[in-house]
Amino acid sequence: MGDTAREPQHIVRMGRPQPGVAPAATPPLYQTAAFDVADIDQLEQINGQGGGYIYTRDNNPNHDSLAASIAMLEGADAGAVFASGMGALAAICLSLARAGDHVLMSGSLYGKTQVLGQRLQQLGIAVDHFDVTSPAELQGKIQGATQLVLVETVANPLLEVADISGLAAAAGKVPLIVDSTFTTSELIRPLEHGAAVVMHSASKYLNGHGDVLLGAVAGPAELVGRFRETASVFGQNANPFECWLVQRGLRTLPLRMQQICRTTRQLAEYLQGHEEISRVWYPLLADHPSRAIAEVLYPNGTGGILTVLLRGDEENASARVSRFMQCAAGIPFSPTLADTRTTVSHPARTSHRFLSAARRQESGITDGMVRISVGLEPAEMLIKELDQALRESAPG
Ligand SMILES: Cc1ncc(COP(=O)(O)O)c(C=O)c1O
Repeated sequence: MGDTAREPQHIVRMGRPQPGVAPAATPPLYQTAAFDVADIDQLEQINGQGGGYIYTRDNNPNHDSLAASIAMLEGADAGAVFASGMGALAAICLSLARAGDHVLMSGSLYGKTQVLGQRLQQLGIAVDHFDVTSPAELQGKIQGATQLVLVETVANPLLEVADISGLAAAAGKVPLIVDSTFTTSELIRPLEHGAAVVMHSASKYLNGHGDVLLGAVAGPAELVGRFRETASVFGQNANPFECWLVQRGLRTLPLRMQQICRTTRQLAEYLQGHEEISRVWYPLLADHPSRAIAEVLYPNGTGGILTVLLRGDEENASARVSRFMQCAAGIPFSPTLADTRTTVSHPARTSHRFLSAARRQESGITDGMVRISVGLEPAEMLIKELDQALRESAPG
């Protein structure tokens, strides 16, 4: 028989936190919608000073601990977390721009971010594009009404590298928002190069295990506070368990990024010489248009992404890509990236499928391209599997 005086009186009150348990070796998970408040004084104090917890849509200890870790990694005053990378981007744009304003976006952003740009236009916000490799073009497009400039550190799938300090100088007083999903704070800290805010799809490398959707931002406390408020109103809040998982994933981020960068470079060099590959895009290869800036900003690698063009004519390119994917059975086709496993994807039909054929062509994305997201397998194993799949799927 237990101590019945201490037992909850009804089944709906069971499962209370245990008082006085030994300190846990990992952070507790606060999987709760709300927090009990002692009285009106405490409620007023929480509301007034913004410290403490009431409702997880606004705040939760798992949000705070992850946000603080990301702020620390990025060298920022403050951080915040969101339901997904898209949730973070939407919160940023909706906080900074309103009808009548102007937003500038790199022309090579992730496909769904470009769709977000289209949605902003439906709300009366003018959206213009510029070539991320040209700070001069950006400078020429800044207007009095421009509220933000959005770029990615390394763009998908052609891997154009942003010269962040050049772009920040060109943006002047307009905040430069940098999506560092592909690179993470292990490879670059955009705030040190003049960015106002850095954001991540934490669904990717920050978590690194392919089992979470989460977004994160880091930057000045005032701006980050506005993004959090927007996220609360629009319901873009993060799930505590997903924060807990990313917090765990972060502990191996340095090791994962080191190995991934090393293997990716090896694969890029190998595939460049393969007879079944017409072209490889990887910023540290001699023929990549961003090589010079990549060598300055990313001497140890630009992350785990490389893109290849399979040999064969454009007319039959999709069938060739399909055959390759079927033959590369150990390397699954997955429309995401940054898993522990190496995966391949078809940009024309995944990340950029939301764009019109004309816009895709303008962005240089063709049907014969395969994007490889390099994981944690040994390089030799990947080289063997890719070589076999390329040969088996070769056109006659
Ligand atoms: C560069 C980049 N930014 C943002 C996103 C959106 O993130 P999420 O899928 O977490 O919404 C993605 C998703 O693939 C991405 O690759």
